[in-house]
Amino acid sequence: MAAAVIGLLLVAAACAPYPGADVPFLVTPPDVVDQMLRLARVTADDLVYDLGSGDGRIVIAAASDFHARAVGIEIDPRLVANSREYVRRAGVADRASIVQQDLFQADLSAATVVTLYLTREVNLRLRPKLLAELRPGTRVVSFNFDMGDWEPRSMIRMDVNGRGIPVYLWVVPPR
Ligand SMILES: C[S@@+](CC[C@H](N)C(=O)[O-])C[C@H]1O[C@@H](n2cnc3c(N)ncnc32)[C@H](O)[C@@H]1O
Repeated sequence: MAAAVIGLLLVAAACAPYPGADVPFLVTPPDVVDQMLRLARVTADDLVYDLGSGDGRIVIAAASDFHARAVGIEIDPRLVANSREYVRRAGVADRASIVQQDLFQADLSAATVVTLYLTREVNLRLRPKLLAELRPGTRVVSFNFDMGDWEPRSMIRMDVNGRGIPVYLWVVPPR
């Protein structure tokens, strides 16, 4: 019984958001990562920012599979350390990096593509920053969560454990 309780506490601790984090660490499935980057039509000319980059999987896929430059912004130092090691092991450290920072403090102006797996509430708080800092034409892709009344350019559904989960694409409009 005690072991079960301790086990549950460990799982809860592992899933708990880092202090100051707006959402906990959950991973985007690999096939969804691939489709997010395809939906945004990522190429070697792009600079992809993953806001809340977790274990770095989107950054690594953008750099290794799409030959883009990519930056992950992650607040949790343990995830930053792990993902930097994964970037190194993937052999893409020349074009991919992880910055330890609150995504709301990051300068996003250089991005040509932004990827998100946050929550709807965080997307809505982030929306004014995206529209103010990103250049017109920048593509924004979000797994699962929309942006309120900012209509997406397109939306696809991905099968995740038998459920059709949306992936949204927006394009930053002219100012
Ligand atoms: C749901 S996970 C997504 C991880 C990764 N992007 C993926 O799709 O697999 C969200 C990540 O955002 C990070 N995070 C939450 N709030 C943040 C903030 N304010 N600034 C930077 N990172 C944050 C969490 O630590 C977590 O790793």
